[in-house]
Amino acid sequence: MLVSESILTGIKSSGFPHLGNIIAAIKPAIALARDKRRLFLVADMHSFTQSLPLQERRENSLAIAAAWLALGLPDRDILFLQSEVPFVTELAWYFSCIISYNFLLRSHIFKNEKHVGKDINIGTFTYPILMAADILLYKATTVPVGEDQRQHVEIARQIARRYNRLYRANFFPIPVAHIQESFFVPGTDGRKMSKSYNNIISPFWSEKKLKQVIFSITTNSIPVSMPKDAKSCPILSILRRISSPSMILELEEGYKKGGISYKDVKGLLLNQILKVFKKERELFFYYMKNQDYVLSFLESGRKKAHIIAERNMKEIRADLHPKLIRRKGLFSQ
Ligand code: TRP
Repeated sequence: MLVSESILTGIKSSGFPHLGNIIAAIKPAIALARDKRRLFLVADMHSFTQSLPLQERRENSLAIAAAWLALGLPDRDILFLQSEVPFVTELAWYFSCIISYNFLLRSHIFKNEKHVGKDINIGTFTYPILMAADILLYKATTVPVGEDQRQHVEIARQIARRYNRLYRANFFPIPVAHIQESFFVPGTDGRKMSKSYNNIISPFWSEKKLKQVIFSITTNSIPVSMPKDAKSCPILSILRRISSPSMILELEEGYKKGGISYKDVKGLLLNQILKVFKKERELFFYYMKNQDYVLSFLESGRKKAHIIAERNMKEIRADLHPKLIRRKGLFSQ
């Protein structure tokens, strides 16, 4: 195994795992660089920037872990809960002291339309610092993420360079964001699928819930017989992500000619999700019922992540507190 290079990514547990998470994050990450060390974290600490009933957050964390497993995460990969390796908050503190306020102000999470002019919590503001600590604590070199996370990885790169310059040359590898155009998954309103836009579809919902959400997608009132615009149709945009090119081509022809009803396309989307994710759905429901398996997978991930984190953190402490560390017994050295 090439330990000098490692992959790391995370999904916030602020919502139930959805098609966007699966197509943009989970699937590509599992397919990427199987020979390298790979760490996948459930970012449960990040989700505290949003208010959420604790029980719901726990369910989301579990569901996200179950989703990773249902999509075929190999045993040798490290899947863990961010909060269970708390070295990350220590590192985030040191990072917060080497990055400037004005630099963080430029971060888009802070400029997000929802936040402008509001008195946001400090966690929302320092969110990218914790994410940088996630990445650098494990010395990750490749970070597969969606386009919206590019800036966060850039902040991690800045922090790594800064630390290396201030404290130890070449200590942190400079992480690279691995972004693919096809990672974009539209939601039921055509915008990026995201919990915060309330436009998600999850293949891990019950058939009843899937049906209910899909059939309530808003469409225009163009009559069945009339031609329709294939490009702007959110149902078709989602279908594009999970169907063969020939099926999409046929549908596009139908849109152009007319004669297709949105109701039919919604039915197609429902069937396609049930078909494409048949095996994954079964596994997911099994894991959610047998939580012990998921919890033990997470526990073994925690142990492995902890070993890597502790080793790196000891070196960081030695760099930052050179005199103290020599005192016997301190930091259990
Ligand atoms: N910020 C990411 C998101 O909202 C989640 C995340 C947390 C993450 N820590 C990470 C992603 C580390 C990549 C690497 O989706």
